[in-house]
Amino acid sequence: MKKQIAVLPGDGIGPEITEGAIKVLQAAAEKFGHEFSFQKALIGGAAIDETGEPLPKETVEICQQSDAILLGAVGGYKWDNLPGDKRPEKGLLAIRKSLDLFANLRPVQAFKSLSNASTLKEEVINGVDLMIVRELTGGIYFGEPRERRGENNEEVVDTLHYTKREIERIIEKAFQLAMLRDKKVTSVDKANVLESSRMWRETAEEIAKKYPEVELEHLLVDNAAMALIRNPKQFDVMVTENMFGDILSDEASMLTGSLGMLPSASLSADGPGLFEPVHGSAPDIAGQGKANPLATILSAAMMLKYAFEMKEEAAAIEEAVEEVLEAGYRTADIVEENTKVLTTNEMVEVVISYLSQDKKAADAISVKR
Ligand code: IPM
Ligand code: MN
Repeated sequence: MKKQIAVLPGDGIGPEITEGAIKVLQAAAEKFGHEFSFQKALIGGAAIDETGEPLPKETVEICQQSDAILLGAVGGYKWDNLPGDKRPEKGLLAIRKSLDLFANLRPVQAFKSLSNASTLKEEVINGVDLMIVRELTGGIYFGEPRERRGENNEEVVDTLHYTKREIERIIEKAFQLAMLRDKKVTSVDKANVLESSRMWRETAEEIAKKYPEVELEHLLVDNAAMALIRNPKQFDVMVTENMFGDILSDEASMLTGSLGMLPSASLSADGPGLFEPVHGSAPDIAGQGKANPLATILSAAMMLKYAFEMKEEAAAIEEAVEEVLEAGYRTADIVEENTKVLTTNEMVEVVISYLSQDKKAADAISVKR
């Protein structure tokens, strides 16, 4: 198959990790006889420096003309003092909104060989396999008004806004995913306080009627935060609004040992999907070869699975990552005793050697060090 992929490297470690994921995608294309072409475009601070805008129009056009989008990360100290609508993060929010990427899938899978990297007990995290489905284009992230106001600007407002349709489509997505998994949906809200959450809960009950095989439970978000750490294995699909999903997915990343391991997919109803690691741009380690490329590589695997329906290809990448970890290869964020620390590029090369089943080449990389 021929596919056109837009690449938005962004800031900080974004360029290194997307470069790595491109190489892995190319290796997968070669192995399975596909043809992927890549077109780079600006977003975030890099775009602000070049054009004055965090999301230039040209970038949106390139994305719209592509079959899928690979994104690194945005943000950095350099742009921290810019006004809200000129910050790098605005670029990320704007691309999500302009492509209507309402469904953010954040799978959390505990890798057996990383169980020591987590701060949690092995017996709590072993076997964790859950999917956070985060609403991504509504809620308090986008509601109007949002402003400083009043005398001396000493009053402030953000707005949590949802339409019924927005809630329906994300909950529907969660049920569809649950049908392909363990048939359990946990809907997370704050229905004891928020009006929006009460409509959320009501809508979840309505959608559930269409899926009699799927078990639905409701959890308040504070309780969900606790339950994620106490007994994460109870969860299959967790569906929640934008802000709650942002917070819970960072928390859930610790179940895998590192935020550097978590991939994500952001999907619309019919346009190109966007695939990016859950972690940020880590400006403190940018350009030093310390970044963990695995979340981006796993995001590329999600692209193959969800955008191109290349299940076997996606599984091959996931398997290569698992084997690489089992063989003791690590980046600095997940290093432990008796493992081999690799740079970002070396990790990419090792994953590629495992993918192309050339493990000798992988060993040669570690011997060089
Ligand atoms: C994420 C990030 C973004 C978000 C930021 C960078 C705007 O934290 O993708 O989770 O809050 O959605
Ligand atoms: Mn986040």
